[in-house]
Amino acid sequence: MSRKLSLCCAGLALAISTALAADQAPLIDIQPPSTVSTTALPAPSTPSEHWTPPDRKDPFVCEYLGENDCWKPSLPGGGAPYSHDGNWPKRRKTCVVEAGGKPDGDDAPAILAAFEECKTDGHVVFSNTTYYVRSVLNTTGLRHVDVEVNGTLLWSDDIEYWTANSLPIGFQNQTSAWHIGGDYIHFYGHGVGTLDGNGQVWYDWNQGRSNMHGRPHAITITDTTESVIEGLRFVQSQMWTMTVARSERVLLQDIYANCTAGPGRDFRSIVNTDGVDTVYANNITFLRWVVDNGDDSISMKQNSTNIYIANCTFYRGLSFAMGSIGQYPGQINVIENVTAENIVLYDTIWGARIKTWTGVNTGYPPNGGGGGFGHARNITFRDFQMHNVERAWGITQCTSYNGVAGGCDTSRFKITDMHWGQARGTVRGDQVATLDCSGAAPCERIELFDNELTVSGDGRDAKVYFCDNVVDDTGFECTEPCNDRCPH
Ligand SMILES: *[C@@H]1O[C@H](CO)[C@@H](O)[C@H](O)[C@H]1NC(C)=O
Ligand SMILES: *[C@@H]1O[C@H](CO)[C@@H](O)[C@H](O)[C@H]1NC(C)=O
Ligand SMILES: *[C@@H]1O[C@H](CO)[C@@H](O)[C@H](O)[C@H]1NC(C)=O
Ligand SMILES: *[C@@H]1O[C@H](CO)[C@@H](O)[C@H](O)[C@H]1NC(C)=O
Ligand SMILES: *[C@@H]1O[C@H](CO)[C@@H](O)[C@H](O)[C@H]1NC(C)=O
Ligand SMILES: *[C@@H]1O[C@H](CO)[C@@H](O)[C@H](O)[C@H]1NC(C)=O
Ligand SMILES: *[C@@H]1O[C@H](CO)[C@@H](O)[C@H](O)[C@H]1NC(C)=O
Ligand SMILES: *[C@@H]1O[C@H](CO)[C@@H](O)[C@H](O)[C@H]1NC(C)=O
Ligand SMILES: *[C@@H]1O[C@H](CO)[C@@H](O)[C@H](O)[C@H]1NC(C)=O
Ligand SMILES: *[C@@H]1O[C@H](CO)[C@@H](O)[C@H](O)[C@H]1NC(C)=O
Repeated sequence: MSRKLSLCCAGLALAISTALAADQAPLIDIQPPSTVSTTALPAPSTPSEHWTPPDRKDPFVCEYLGENDCWKPSLPGGGAPYSHDGNWPKRRKTCVVEAGGKPDGDDAPAILAAFEECKTDGHVVFSNTTYYVRSVLNTTGLRHVDVEVNGTLLWSDDIEYWTANSLPIGFQNQTSAWHIGGDYIHFYGHGVGTLDGNGQVWYDWNQGRSNMHGRPHAITITDTTESVIEGLRFVQSQMWTMTVARSERVLLQDIYANCTAGPGRDFRSIVNTDGVDTVYANNITFLRWVVDNGDDSISMKQNSTNIYIANCTFYRGLSFAMGSIGQYPGQINVIENVTAENIVLYDTIWGARIKTWTGVNTGYPPNGGGGGFGHARNITFRDFQMHNVERAWGITQCTSYNGVAGGCDTSRFKITDMHWGQARGTVRGDQVATLDCSGAAPCERIELFDNELTVSGDGRDAKVYFCDNVVDDTGFECTEPCNDRCPH
């Protein structure tokens, strides 16, 4: 019955978004929308004319050209999530990082020297003091290294320096202040080691705008395998706290990430302070993260596979986001085999959601895009305790960051096999889920099960499920079509 309703309304939604797309036509300055086809996918094509060369040395050429086969897992998927027994061998050598102790000095050269000295079978120690970081850190290619942080690393607030010099991460034309990576790394902070991005200056400078090129992520875990990152605190990150890229078999546990807008600032000022994002990552485990921020708490982006997340608590941010994805025209992106369970949420906007770009390409990254395809498949979210969450579950295929609206039925990015349930607690309205799937690639096999939520402050049951283009829904009944009420 609900299936019939979903199908009946696909045409209506298509009509609405076609009208919107027509209204918005003058904003689409790059290419006219391509014809939507639900049958054959076009052969991947490399976007060319509108892709300008990078403005700084960028080793990730395949990615910035929006090509395919940029990275792939070394082992086939399947099996238990990556874990570690906690036993680490004693390293051959210890390198204690010298602290200059001068707030206007730069400890980056001393940090780089310690990593160079101890990059194989070494133990790098940050003592219980403050290190001042005024320039970029690239400490990749480590092998069998312990990195122990007992103090604080404090980044400088020189916006001009960082926007010009931060290091490309090979995704969305974004950059990072520190790249760390290698094999068999144990990076830990006993729950006290702190990375402080001095973010308030960035939040004030950014003024709630979307992704700003050159605004650095605090740290990027890159080209890393068989590693454990634990017991670290991240406060006031410049932008995203962490990106895990081109990595496999990494366990990240007992991590605290808090980006808070200072007194008198608007909550929107901490937009883009994601807790952690994965791109080109396989077999990654996240346990016991606490994230308090103003954007995605944990987000899986392109080619994230076999991800396990448990026992996390999120405050105020957007909770889980699968995406945005499908940003590069002709590029294939996948998110597959993700499970998140036993999650506690306070005042977040979502329980979890999937967001894809439209099928219409407008502009280029970081803020433009659309026209990518691929799939999100087999994603489980279960056992979520919600405290005053805006709504539990969502799908949108209407993403664009550059003000272009409409096109919600154009994405060919395919969403299937979702299992989202056992949510308890309170939501701010009567909506449990808003599922706005694309007419060009309807969502299939969407199971929302055993969700028992009440409306914050009034105790009524939340029972509303808005759906467009959902086929094979199980465990729930779509109550109404979106009719423009599904948030993007
Ligand atoms: C990244 O953004 C900068 C600033 O907008 C632009 O100059 C550069 O060409 C972009 N690079 C890519 C690869 O999109
Ligand atoms: C993402 O993974 C898919 C499936 O393995 C692959 O076809 C595609 O090339 C990958 N995308 C990139 C950008 O590497
Ligand atoms: C997803 O998990 C299934 C079952 O373990 C496995 O067969 C499949 O290869 C996994 N997919 C990926 C992309 O790793
Ligand atoms: C993750 O890595 C571990 C260790 O290599 C392996 O045993 C397990 O099968 C992998 N799991 C997945 C889902 O790839
Ligand atoms: C670090 O030093 C402070 C005092 O400066 C002390 O309170 C704290 O216990 C020390 N932490 C560690 C891990 O030694
Ligand atoms: C760092 O602090 C921890 C916890 O206080 C302590 O056990 C460890 O010995 C310290 N490490 C170094 C190298 O001083
Ligand atoms: C970091 O250093 C390594 C080794 O020199 C280099 O291959 C890599 O391209 C550098 N990363 C960036 C983002 O510049
Ligand atoms: C995050 O930091 C703010 C400001 O220090 C604090 O009020 C808030 O309680 C912190 N959140 C968590 C979860 O610790
Ligand atoms: C999560 O926490 C529960 C108890 O709160 C525990 O039983 C479970 O083992 C934990 N899961 C992981 C993967 O640590
Ligand atoms: C879905 O992913 C989970 C891990 O998140 C895995 O255990 C399961 O086998 C996968 N199912 C299929 C059908 O691939």
